[in-house]
Amino acid sequence: MALPQSVKIVEVGPRDGLQNEKEFVPTRIKIDLIDRLSAAGFRNVESASFVSPKWVPQMADGADVMAGIARRPGTIYSVLTPNLRGLEGALAAQADEIVIFGAASEAFSQKNINCSIAESIARFEPVTQTAKAAGLRIRGSVSCSLGCPYQGEVPVASVVDVVERFAALGCDEIDIADTIGVGTPKRTREVFEAVTKVFPRERLSGHFHDTYGQALANIYAALNEGIEIYHASVAGLGGCPYAKGATGNVATEDVLYLMNGLGIETGIDLAQVVAIGDFISTATGKANASRAGKALLAKARSEQTPCV
Ligand code: HMG
Ligand code: MG
Repeated sequence: MALPQSVKIVEVGPRDGLQNEKEFVPTRIKIDLIDRLSAAGFRNVESASFVSPKWVPQMADGADVMAGIARRPGTIYSVLTPNLRGLEGALAAQADEIVIFGAASEAFSQKNINCSIAESIARFEPVTQTAKAAGLRIRGSVSCSLGCPYQGEVPVASVVDVVERFAALGCDEIDIADTIGVGTPKRTREVFEAVTKVFPRERLSGHFHDTYGQALANIYAALNEGIEIYHASVAGLGGCPYAKGATGNVATEDVLYLMNGLGIETGIDLAQVVAIGDFISTATGKANASRAGKALLAKARSEQTPCV
């Protein structure tokens, strides 16, 4: 299959990236990060979670974050909503899109949202019905689509099953998520080949964590399956609090460098994102995990240093 001519990059750093930070990141830094990202051209920024603050304390300030951002017309600001209480928060915050998050692995579903897969679908039903009635976009995220930290191997059929259930709930977009970054290109292709039979290809996305360094290879495999939406986190921030050892999402700078090299349009300025990666790494005191980001920063600094 020919590679897509353009892709949508969903920036998930403010949510998936920051949720794993041990030290509380001040609300003003979160707001500044989101505003810089929307100014850099991202059409979709995953901005907050309306989850239990006991489960993920870092995301406790979601309402303040959403109230503080400077909304850019046309930008989709997404928030995570595990239940009706979360949806109430999303509606009050005037989010554009909610994200319901389930798993293709029973064990992970229990650890992450404290219920079985079937219970999670039942819980999402009133959430999606109310969200649709309110005119919100709905995204469904399928964790552990390429492997589970507790169960290990996850059958492709389990991923297809959850995708079908999410489709029946009315999801506009569905994420195939490699929560712990164990997937390889062969498995990625197998999973996308299977899920594109039950849900429109153009509304599926690849959400790859980079724990085993396979994320870019997996994105290239998914591009070959015609997938047009990818999630990434500036400076490679992140990890899942309920998936021990999992590192951040693939770094946005690295994905943009790949897309630029392939001549695939993203509408996003790489240089601006490199600067944002530097900003958030400095603000959190964390090493920048983007290879392209670090290389481009070093190049820019060496060009500024006069030769003696
Ligand atoms: P529970 O303990 O079974 O539920 O948690 P509960 O109804 O008994 O509630 C427990 C407490 O939380 C109660 O407070 C509720 O009021 C409160 P208490 O009475 O004890 O004071 N509560 C809430 N507070 C604020 N907002 C809410 C909310 N709901 C309940 N919406 C629950 C069940 C789903 C709430 C919990 O398990 C939870 O919040 N889990 C979220 C975990 C999470 O955010 N994980 C990370 C995001 S998923 C991810 O990163 C994967 C992804 O990136 C894709 C991938 O890479 O795989 C998307
Ligand atoms: Mg994730």
